[in-house]
Amino acid sequence: MGLKAAEIGFSILVLFQYSYAYKLVCYYTSWSQYRDGDASCLPDNIDAKLCTHIIYSFANISNNQIDTWEWNDVTLYESLNELKQRNTKLKTLLSVGGWRLGTKRFSDMASQTESRRTFINSVMTFLRTHNFDGLDLAWLYPGRRDKQNFNSLLQEMADEFSKEAQRTGMERLLLSAALPAGRVALDAGYDIPRISKYVDFINLMTYNFHGAWKKTTGHHSPLYKGKKDDSYSNVRYAVNYMLSRSAPASKLIMGIPTFGNSFTLASSDSEVGAKILGPGIEGLYTKEPGVLAYYEVCGFLSGASVNRILEQKVPYATKGNQWVGYEDQESVRDKVQYLKTSRLAGAMVWALDLDDFQGTFCNQKPFPLTVAIKDALFST
Ligand SMILES: *[C@@H]1O[C@H](CO)[C@@H](O)[C@H](O)[C@H]1NC(C)=O
Repeated sequence: MGLKAAEIGFSILVLFQYSYAYKLVCYYTSWSQYRDGDASCLPDNIDAKLCTHIIYSFANISNNQIDTWEWNDVTLYESLNELKQRNTKLKTLLSVGGWRLGTKRFSDMASQTESRRTFINSVMTFLRTHNFDGLDLAWLYPGRRDKQNFNSLLQEMADEFSKEAQRTGMERLLLSAALPAGRVALDAGYDIPRISKYVDFINLMTYNFHGAWKKTTGHHSPLYKGKKDDSYSNVRYAVNYMLSRSAPASKLIMGIPTFGNSFTLASSDSEVGAKILGPGIEGLYTKEPGVLAYYEVCGFLSGASVNRILEQKVPYATKGNQWVGYEDQESVRDKVQYLKTSRLAGAMVWALDLDDFQGTFCNQKPFPLTVAIKDALFST
């Protein structure tokens, strides 16, 4: 009896440790606070036990130093990092960059040894002051001439983080990088083997494969190649490409979007590959043409016709002249299954604030997509 209990206890421990090795890396965007009503998201709205890592987006670069972006960032940093009191295993990172920062100040900073040193020193002070556990670099996107400088930046940063940990006795700061999943951008700006060596993990942005620029409907984050797609524009291709370029699976985090991509149809044809006039009508809350938060998709679904692209394992819905490709519980479970089979390090979610984080829109529990990802990731 005693032995049996011990054996069971041991198996449970092994299972627990095995399943807990996955990372669930979740981005939070500071500008989501400005959305109206129930769509306004603050760090307090985040379930502290949902993700293993939360990444706060974005910080600025000013005079070659890391800096706040929003007027109230410091207050939000504080409430985000208070989540660690409710989940002591939670790690938080600050992401610097994003498409609004662009590439110029990154490029200038990374181009000289001296300015890189200034930046790295500012990062260590800033992260420790605000109680973050690491930095995420979201340089969108380095070009050919930045490639070596980006390597140097990462190498020196990893080095300084180690030294700082030895000096202070504190846990080493984590370093991650957000990488595009498009082959052209990857080839142009990223030395994948070197980057992989210096970072703790890579957040692969495996979405936005399709958009209004393609002039037809199509899902923006299909797991597999569609009949009418080129062979690069799917999650599997991007993951395999990274692996083939020496990114170790143990550092690769696969992105899963909690947003949909919408189009305005040009005719009554509403199939995949149908002609479009342009991006879909903006969402009531996110207010950006062509993009809908999952909680906006939920509203759209009432009265819509819902379909699955079977060979790509993702759903889309149409209503009137609007077409939206999105994620549901089934599609995110399929993606998690895929990343587990490929022995990747985990899933990344863009973004917590685009999920139905309060459960007020979708008639489901809070964070329905992120919870489905978590459950699939940590089930055996
Ligand atoms: C970011 O830094 C630049 C350079 O100092 C500055 O011009 C810009 O206003 C800053 N952006 C924000 C949102 O604070």
